[in-house]
Amino acid sequence: MTGFGLITPRETLFGRGMRDQAAARLAQMGRRILVVRGRSVAWVDTFCADLIARGCDVHQVVSQGEPKLPELVDAVDQARAFAGDCVVAIGGGAVIDLGKAIAGLAPSIGDPVGYLEIVGTGQVLADPLPFVAMPTTSGTGAEATKNAVITVPDRQIKVSLRDARLVPILAIVDPALTDNAPRSLTLASGLDAVTQLIESYLCIRANPFTDAFGRDAIGDGMRALVTLMAGEDAQARDDLARASYLSGVALANSGLGIVHGLAAPIGGQGGAHGAICGRLLAPALDANRRIAAEMGRDLTRFDEVSDWIGAALGVPVDQATSALRTFVDANGLPDLAALNCPPEIYADMAQGAANASSSKANPVPLTKDQIIAIMADA
Ligand SMILES: [Fe+2]
Repeated sequence: MTGFGLITPRETLFGRGMRDQAAARLAQMGRRILVVRGRSVAWVDTFCADLIARGCDVHQVVSQGEPKLPELVDAVDQARAFAGDCVVAIGGGAVIDLGKAIAGLAPSIGDPVGYLEIVGTGQVLADPLPFVAMPTTSGTGAEATKNAVITVPDRQIKVSLRDARLVPILAIVDPALTDNAPRSLTLASGLDAVTQLIESYLCIRANPFTDAFGRDAIGDGMRALVTLMAGEDAQARDDLARASYLSGVALANSGLGIVHGLAAPIGGQGGAHGAICGRLLAPALDANRRIAAEMGRDLTRFDEVSDWIGAALGVPVDQATSALRTFVDANGLPDLAALNCPPEIYADMAQGAANASSSKANPVPLTKDQIIAIMADA
């Protein structure tokens, strides 16, 4: 068999109520704490007050959405001036990516752009600051991954800052922080988590650890999403948070596939990552399976995935991907045109996907025409 490695957060605290340990844990790491946050999570104010009560100096950086290069440059300048001991990010995937990039780049010198993949050298030279991640949405699994995705507006692309040392030293996953998230956000981010688990499970770099995460969480994650589209449910929030965390561990240790290969250039046009993934998942599964069958490949894993999806959606295995298409439509997921990806740019997007690192782990090789056909099908 092929060799593999295993990278995970040094420590993970998972479960309802775990957020109550956050301030004490951060205060043990240093006195100067850089807090990266979104605007909407009120609990962060309580957390910061708790840090200050413990004698910490706190500097807050407020995320403006999926991080763009100019925002990162400004935040890294703030972090270098503050000279913090550690960074904690509390928010969705965009907030965690911004915090991860700040922690990665604050100790290095010079312009952040030089450290990004594609537009720079792609290397992180100095050791990052200790980084703690607390997700408030269930989706990207960024609390367990080694990369941060940054949009470069001048080039209309998303690129990664990537280094094994960027994995958070502590992930605190308290599903209560995701309770009552808006329905559309829950759908798009949850579909990202499910896509990441499925692509990791099917990709050519899957390994025994990542296989275990896929088998454990694909069905539960999909079922939780179905439940949450019908209404708020604490157990489903817990299951989806677990699926999201495990999807991050899986993708950091295996690879992804054509959905994430396409999500990089399409996301560069401005559409939300999770919605792009959710829209492409069923068409990509159908195309990959058909091509794998034509190549005479073993289809066991495709059948397993269809079995898990079908069970969650209450349909037989052979109707799983068509039921998934109906599910995303019925729950209002935007189509590709609404995600700034009209047919006129499919060829450019396919070229971008062919160059993307995620596509290289896709279970079967795809031609540019086959990639265009997936977008047309979506
Ligand atoms: Fe993703």
